[in-house]
This record gives sequence, C-alpha cells and structure tokens, in this order.
Amino acid sequence: MAYSKPSKPKNKPFTFPFILFLIALLLFTIHYLRQLHDDFQNKAMTYPKLARNNPKWFEVVAREFGDENTVNVGFVNMDATKMKEKRTKMVRVNFVPVKDGVRWSDLFPEWIDENAPSNCPKIPMPEFEDYQDLDVVVARVPCEEDGLRDVFRLQVNLVVANLLVRSGRKRNGVDRPIFAVFIGSSGPMWEIFRCDDIFWHFGDYWVYKPQLRRIKQKVVMPVGSCQISPPFAQSGEELWGRQSDKSKNYSIQKPREAYVTVLHSSEAYVCGAIALAQSIIQSNSTKDLVLLADDHISPRSIDGLRSAGWKIKRIQRIRSPHSKKNAYNEWNYSKLRIWQLIEYDKVMFIDSDLIATQNLDEFFVYPQISAAGNDRHIFNSGLMLVEPSTCTFETLMRKRSVVESYNGGDQGFLNEMFPWWHRLPAKLNHLKFFGSVPDYVHRIRDDTYTVHYLGLKPWMCYKDYDCNWDKVEGQQFASDSAHEKWWHVYDKMPKKLRQYCSLTPKMDARIRTYRQRAKNASFPDGHWKITVKDPRQNLL
Ligand SMILES: *[C@@H]1O[C@H](CO)[C@@H](O)[C@H](O)[C@H]1NC(C)=O
Ligand SMILES: *[C@@H]1O[C@H](CO)[C@@H](O)[C@H](O)[C@H]1NC(C)=O
Ligand SMILES: *[C@@H]1O[C@H](CO)[C@@H](O)[C@H](O)[C@H]1NC(C)=O
Ligand SMILES: *[C@@H]1O[C@H](CO)[C@@H](O)[C@H](O)[C@H]1NC(C)=O
Repeated sequence: MAYSKPSKPKNKPFTFPFILFLIALLLFTIHYLRQLHDDFQNKAMTYPKLARNNPKWFEVVAREFGDENTVNVGFVNMDATKMKEKRTKMVRVNFVPVKDGVRWSDLFPEWIDENAPSNCPKIPMPEFEDYQDLDVVVARVPCEEDGLRDVFRLQVNLVVANLLVRSGRKRNGVDRPIFAVFIGSSGPMWEIFRCDDIFWHFGDYWVYKPQLRRIKQKVVMPVGSCQISPPFAQSGEELWGRQSDKSKNYSIQKPREAYVTVLHSSEAYVCGAIALAQSIIQSNSTKDLVLLADDHISPRSIDGLRSAGWKIKRIQRIRSPHSKKNAYNEWNYSKLRIWQLIEYDKVMFIDSDLIATQNLDEFFVYPQISAAGNDRHIFNSGLMLVEPSTCTFETLMRKRSVVESYNGGDQGFLNEMFPWWHRLPAKLNHLKFFGSVPDYVHRIRDDTYTVHYLGLKPWMCYKDYDCNWDKVEGQQFASDSAHEKWWHVYDKMPKKLRQYCSLTPKMDARIRTYRQRAKNASFPDGHWKITVKDPRQNLL
C-alpha cells in the first residue's frame, strides 16, 4: 500500500506524452501511406510540371491537358479557389438561386395535362455566353442528407450539366477533355452524372469525365415530370449517331437496344410474357427481346418463351430487404438485374402483365429513367427506360438495404434512388383501372401504346369473360375492351404457343366459384349472364 501510492503521480506525466507520441506516430503513418498512394497514382500519369500545393482535384485534371494550354475553370455555388498554378483562368459562375417557394412537388406534380404547354417552374440558369470554353466546372453540391428531393441541389447539378454541354466543344478541331469536380459528401446527382463517368474520388471530392452526349440528352429534358418528355426523336437520332453516316456498316451502327422483362419465383406470368413478346413482334419492332428468368421457370416454359421471341438469360432472384417473408413482393428486387445487361446501351423494361398495342420503338430515344407517372411524385416501374451499367447495378445492390421503399417493392425503392425522372405519356403505360368511373362499360381508349393489366390477368379468366367483374373489389380493374385487346394478340399467336396459356383445374374452379357468387348476388353489371364459349374451360 505505502509503496503503490507514490508510483501513481509518477505514471501520469509519463502516460500523457506517450499518448501524444502514439497519435503523432499514427498521423505520420497515415500521411506516409497517403503519400505512397498518391505517388503510386502519379506514376501512372505523365504530367510532372505542376506548381506544388494545388488542390488535389486540380492536379488530377491538369494532367489531362497539354503542357501549353491554359485551363479554364468555372466555379459554381462557391468562390473561385486561389491556385498556385499560373496557366489557369478562374471564374465564378453567377446565377440566381431558385426561389424558396419552388417545391419538389411543383416539379413533380401528380397529374399534368399532357397536351397543354409546359407549366414547369423556372429554374434560373447562368448567362451561358459569359462562360464559354470552360475546361473544368467545379461545384459545391448540397448533399443528399439535405434532402433527396431538394430543388436547389437539382439547380446546381443542372447548372454544371449545362455548362459542360456548352463548353465541351472541339478546339482547333481537337476534342478537348472536359471535367466536372463536385465537392460534397454525396457527390452529384447520379441521375444526371452517371457513376460510370467517375474519374477520381477521394473523400468529399468527386472528379467526373462525363460522356457529353448523355449529359446533352439530360439537359434537353424538362426539369421535372411537370412536362411530358418532348418528342425530340430527331435530335435523339443525332445524339445516338444513327443516321449520321450512311456509308457505315449498319450492323455496327445498329443501336444496342432491347425490350426486357423478368420472370421469377413462379410460372404464373409465363403466358403473360409470351403474349408480351408476341405483341411487340406484331408491332413490327426491330429491337431485341431479352427475358431474365430465375430457376423457378421450367425448361418447358423456357422453350415456349424462346419460341415466342425472347432471348433467355438465367438469373438468381433478389430478395426485397423490406418485405415480409412470403409476401407477394418478396422477390421483386430481381428487376434490378436489368442493369446488368451491359451489352445494351438502353433497354425498355416491361412487366409481363402488359402488352404493346402499338410500336414503341420510337421511345427508346429517351434517357434513364423515363416512365409514366403513378401517383404523387413517383413513376410506375412497370414500364421504364433504363441504361444498363455495372456501377449502377452495384450501387443499387449496395443501397437496397438502407434505402426505404414505401411499398416494400422495387417501385418504391427505384423512386427513392431516381427521384429525378422523365415523364412519358400516360398512354405508354396505360393502367387498366376504373376507380372513379361509375359505369359498367369501362372502355379503354383506342390510342394507347400498351395496356397494363392490373387485377386478375386475362389468361387467368376466360377468353370471352373478364372475371374481374365477379368480385366487388375486382370490378375497378374489369374491362371488356381491354380484355379483348389481350386476346386479340393471343389469336394471332402460333398455335404451339397457346398451350402455355391453358387453365389449370384450380384456376377454372376459382373462376366458377366467384362467378356463381356474382350470380347469387345478382351483380347489376350482368356479366355473370354471359354464356362462356372459351374452349380452354374444357381442356383441363
Ligand atoms: C458488317 O459488319 C458485320 C459484323 O461486324 C459483318 O458480319 C458484315 O459482313 C458487315 N457487312 C458489310 C456489308 O460490310
Ligand atoms: C407490320 O408490317 C406488316 C407488313 O409490312 C404490315 O402489314 C402491318 O400492318 C404492320 N403492323 C403494324 C402494327 O404496323
Ligand atoms: C412483385 O412480383 C410479383 C410476382 O412476380 C407480382 O405479382 C407483383 O405485382 C410485383 N409487385 C410489384 C410492386 O412490382
Ligand atoms: C349460391 O346460392 C345457392 C342457393 O342459394 C347456394 O346453395 C350456393 O352455395 C351459392 N353459391 C355461392 C358460390 O355462393
């Protein structure tokens, strides 16, 4: 006891410097390792003649410019950084911040009049003539934590995109590289700046070397779903270089584009996918047809799907992290696999419970994500244009457990991941739904491009009898004219494909039960009186 007391104060002055020493050692090690890392990176590049102590992002991009050239740098949402380097020209880009009163819901209203002129709020842009020939655009971006649906964040991103598009020209006949540098923890909006274009990233610094043709396409789109995507098919052709050089070999020129659907977990939609392929073929489409199928789809079904026109790719299904076990949407995240189809530049995903009623090929000009509206500010993920990309797929996979989905399904998730989307006309994904139509006709329009069969699917009913009429809650989905359109596709299918749409005894029993109930209750629509002639009811 007596000995131990004096030893304590002796320890204290010893410990404190020791900890300091440890911290110093740690800091030095980190510094050394970073130096080593930087040196390693520098070795791969060949621009040694830089003044010291430039910001790191500048060193990264300056190497890409020739020795003699002046590098023009524009700064967005921040002051021009002082640079040691002589051969730079700095300018702060001025623009009026978007009005406080402008909300995301103004940019993404639930409903719009598609035929009326644009009603989008104004998002001010800089006077672009004042900022020509920029080589690098540096922006401080508000981060995602400030809100995913933040109008100012969108404005800053659009200012950068527009500056790049206007500056990224040839100089003396030579394509000059152009860069965007984003400062902020979450980087730019990936709906505009693709992760494929990340050139360098360290901490809060993100350097992008964008593919201008894709950004160009983004900046000609409306600022939100407040306006329908303009019919700029012609400029789209220009952008994608389709007819630019007729002498070129067409099979090289042919755009890498495909219609895609996904089947997983059960065979319930095999017939739907066959009818979808046939409807696209009947519309004289020139695109590829690709179907992703997990191992619940039998070899026999695969045969049928292949005969129907699909190229088949086997996939492993993906679980929805937010859905309950055995829930109807438990495996809906399998849809994310469409981003793995990198042999295509663009794909139009279509759910297997739609058919095409007109040729949809012209809509491939629109960028990711173009889709029809659902409700509120969200799009319906039953039909959407997507640009496959490995890093996009990996990001989606990484974020799927942390990002919420309002309905536990892929639609909720994708809307959180792509809050900035482009509105296609509603008739491109015509939801068969008559929630507020107080008649028993439920006629669908004749000018739709697709029909999306909500409720019981046509192949789960009789050919001449839409069994959605038999349930009170089903009647909002019932429509004889929509039903006929589906069976019209069926009638034009080769005979050997029709067997994939036969009724099982269980399906037939279900139809009969509910039909009897409708009869017992004397449903006023009177559909239960129809004499069914569909031969499928006798082929069990
Ligand atoms: C075009 O290219 C494809 C594949 O690259 C080749 O098979 C075909 O023979 C070419 N056609 C012409 C007319 O050059
Ligand atoms: C598809 O092409 C055929 C033959 O050229 C034509 O008869 C038919 O009307 C076309 N169908 C559509 C939907 O355009
Ligand atoms: C999820 O997938 C199931 C089965 O494939 C389908 O019935 C359902 O409509 C899908 N739900 C959503 C929200 O996509
Ligand atoms: C219909 O009514 C009859 C007689 O009232 C009854 O026997 C039968 O079970 C009912 N069927 C259904 C499906 O409700």
